[in-house]
Amino acid sequence: MFIDLLRQRRSIRKFLDKPVEQEKIKELVEAALRSPSSRGLNPWQFIIVDDKTLLETLSASKEHGSGFLKGAPLAIIVCADDSIETWIEDCSIASILIQLSAESLGLKSCWIQIRDRQHDRLTTAREFVAEHVNLPPNLNIEAIIAIGYPDEEKQPHKLEKLQFDKIWINTYGQPMQ
Ligand SMILES: Cc1cc2nc3c(=O)[nH]c(=O)nc-3n(C[C@H](O)[C@H](O)[C@H](O)COP(=O)(O)O)c2cc1C
Repeated sequence: MFIDLLRQRRSIRKFLDKPVEQEKIKELVEAALRSPSSRGLNPWQFIIVDDKTLLETLSASKEHGSGFLKGAPLAIIVCADDSIETWIEDCSIASILIQLSAESLGLKSCWIQIRDRQHDRLTTAREFVAEHVNLPPNLNIEAIIAIGYPDEEKQPHKLEKLQFDKIWINTYGQPMQ
């Protein structure tokens, strides 16, 4: 059941030193390419990173929140032509579909935000990543999705902790029964 997949999904940042099989990578790629996009313009492109040295380099993309990438066997850089106005939405949809597909394949993942983030005071995270993967100037980067077999366990978010107080029926302020 799809809801079970959603229930078990957590962001995982510690991975086993075990490569992700090519068949599974192909499935992740297919899932990404099946993403809906505004007007079917498909502005995204994806860079599969399985080179350990490059993963370690990219783990320095930001001062905080990307360091764990050096322990991941796989990452997918989600980038797009940012002249297309919905590139952020389209990349976000592709990113979460990659994450959920990973989950369905027994893998775990974590989103690393690159758009609108700094590498350091002078360099954006996009500039840093772009330099190391030879990204053309017309492409912007939404996120890097770190993927692998988990080396940590996290409990699902409890049903009673979900923010049902943010749900309204028909009119804002009318709580659901
Ligand atoms: C748009 C977005 C950006 C995120 N950026 C990062 C990031 O840069 N580094 C990181 O470690 N986690 C990042 N995360 C993961 C969140 O921290 C995580 O989803 C949140 O803490 C909830 O935990 P859960 O995914 O286990 O439910 C990001 C998630 C989203 C949706």
